[in-house]
Amino acid sequence: MPTSQIAQPVVAGSAKCLVVDDEPAVRGYLVRMLRSQGFQCFEAASGREALEVLDRIGEPPLIVSDMRMPEMDGIRFLELVRDRYPDTSVIMLTGMSETSTAVDCLHRGAADFLLKPISTSELQARVTRALEKRALVLQNRFYQEHLERQVREQATRIQEVFLQGVQMLARALEAKDAYTRGHSIRVSQYAVAMAGRMGFEGVSLDGIRLGGELHDIGKIGTREAVLHKPGSLTDEEFRQITEHPLLGERMLSPLAQESPAVLRIVRSHHERLDGRGFPDGLRGEKIPIEARIVAVADAFDAMTTRRPYRESRPPSEAMAELRRVAGSQLDPEAVEAFVETHPIERQVELCV
Ligand SMILES: [Fe+2]
Repeated sequence: MPTSQIAQPVVAGSAKCLVVDDEPAVRGYLVRMLRSQGFQCFEAASGREALEVLDRIGEPPLIVSDMRMPEMDGIRFLELVRDRYPDTSVIMLTGMSETSTAVDCLHRGAADFLLKPISTSELQARVTRALEKRALVLQNRFYQEHLERQVREQATRIQEVFLQGVQMLARALEAKDAYTRGHSIRVSQYAVAMAGRMGFEGVSLDGIRLGGELHDIGKIGTREAVLHKPGSLTDEEFRQITEHPLLGERMLSPLAQESPAVLRIVRSHHERLDGRGFPDGLRGEKIPIEARIVAVADAFDAMTTRRPYRESRPPSEAMAELRRVAGSQLDPEAVEAFVETHPIERQVELCV
């Protein structure tokens, strides 16, 4: 961090200082002493007047205020200053008989207190100490905020790098399985359109976009001979295929904190409303809504794409099939959203 960005201790220079005292002689004396230390001084004869001055000059680093004043006493003034100008150091002036009140001031956030009569050297020492303390507080806050931002930025970067790696894996999967080329992207696009129609937005929609893209990522662990098999699968081969949601979820576990919806999609996109899906056999609304949406998009794209074991079906036929299984296998609301957002269906309806 460049040192120029760190708040430096203010001990003199053109720093503003407000002196509040109802006795003109004391006020004048304080102003002279503080000016000799290099402060740009402002004066007020009461708490109310002081607040008006603060309105005009903004938050000064230092206020020196008397305790006993008409209209508004020093304690009330201190409370208002702490509330409105929390970064201002306030030094209170008290008489010998008011030491308990002075301690009370410290509890209420005064930087220090000075007993009258005031000596020049004492005032100088207290002012320097109060401003050094203030500078430390500001520095600490700056470091803390800077560090938090850095940690956040780093976490985002780590996530981005991880996602880039995962997306490369998704492309590698499509290269491994020519029949599913473009499948993940299409599923993602269909699902986003449906989710948008269903009211998803912002990060929820982003989760569905990414989840759609990565829903089959676990197939990277399925043997090519099984993925490409033209005939029906043996029980063992079927078991291998059904492992891909869990394997995908394990692969993407670093996203668990930031994008939990992605993991829900990857794990549950083969669940069925009637509980006959895998891997958990969830029923109805127990299946995460994001996964129910992706399942519809996945089913449509699978039907309209040529697979090793069957030819593709025309979109209108696939759409009719979605409607047929709505309620048993697929979520009816999600199917409806698909129908409403899919251009082919709209074209078919216009032709009818
Ligand atoms: Fe899948």
